[in-house]
Amino acid sequence: MGAGRAGTVLAMAFDRAGIEVAAVASRRPDEAARLAGRLGRPAEVVARAEDVLDRAEVVWLTVPDDQLAPLASGLAAERGRWPGRVAVHCAGRFDRSVLAPLRATGADLAACHPLAALARPAPDPLRGAAAAVDADPGARRRVRALALRIGLRPVTLAPDRRVVYHATCVLAGNLPLLLLAAAERIGGDAGLPAALVAGLRPLLEGALANATALGTAAALTGPAVRRDRGALTAHAAALQRIDPAVARAYRAVSALAGSARSAGAASA
Ligand SMILES: NC(=O)c1ccc[n+]([C@@H]2O[C@H](COP(=O)([O-])OP(=O)(O)OC[C@H]3O[C@@H](n4cnc5c(N)ncnc54)[C@H](OP(=O)(O)O)[C@@H]3O)[C@@H](O)[C@H]2O)c1
Repeated sequence: MGAGRAGTVLAMAFDRAGIEVAAVASRRPDEAARLAGRLGRPAEVVARAEDVLDRAEVVWLTVPDDQLAPLASGLAAERGRWPGRVAVHCAGRFDRSVLAPLRATGADLAACHPLAALARPAPDPLRGAAAAVDADPGARRRVRALALRIGLRPVTLAPDRRVVYHATCVLAGNLPLLLLAAAERIGGDAGLPAALVAGLRPLLEGALANATALGTAAALTGPAVRRDRGALTAHAAALQRIDPAVARAYRAVSALAGSARSAGAASA
């Protein structure tokens, strides 16, 4: 249920792994049909989300995080159709209890958050990625087995660790791209040569390759880790004139250099 980015990537991965995607439901039927059309084996497109229940043993709820609780409440009305079925969501922030309204129906509940950026289905972003799993005893084996079949590495995560876990995912997976987008925009706005602006993404890729080869702390470079206060002050002043919000972000992230280095020293 939910034919967006995560739903599409998961459904295509199940399909490739020979696991039948029996039915697809989404708020917009055309999106459900688009997803179904990308699968090798036909999947039924159903108009009402609850109609998935007659067709599937494991129901993946791949809707936005804030839609999970209301969707679970609505689906809880279908009492007789849940016993023996598993409802699993993919949100990082929530444990399985966000689906609690379904518990009274006899469904087993689970959360399985792929630790991957699911913006496009190919090349397969799930293969080799970890997945944070929290599951009722009755769902654990099935969800782990499905995750393994599509190349995920399931890792059990305690419910009280989920929010901080998800914050780490956003810090590592999303915020660097916001910084890159800001750098590209400011480079363009400042009239820098296009070839230099185009070099910013490879710069980030190179830094990531260094982090893979050397470890994150050892790969850090730049004025913040060199404690070059003159450069930091000049950069912040230049950014302040173009975009004060970016200048604030620059100062805030630069202030992390000390803790990043000591974390590296502690783990070295
Ligand atoms: N994308 C990622 O990188 C990623 C990674 C790991 C986990 N996740 C998790 O995966 C889940 C989905 O995220 P996403 O990125 O795939 O979001 P998304 O691209 O916005 O897709 C959500 C889909 O759900 C549909 N939808 C919304 N409310 C619905 C409802 N009440 N009933 C049925 N369908 C509904 C949306 O339809 P409309 O288009 O009509 O709104 C849309 O097709 C979230 O829990 C997210 O945390 C995402």
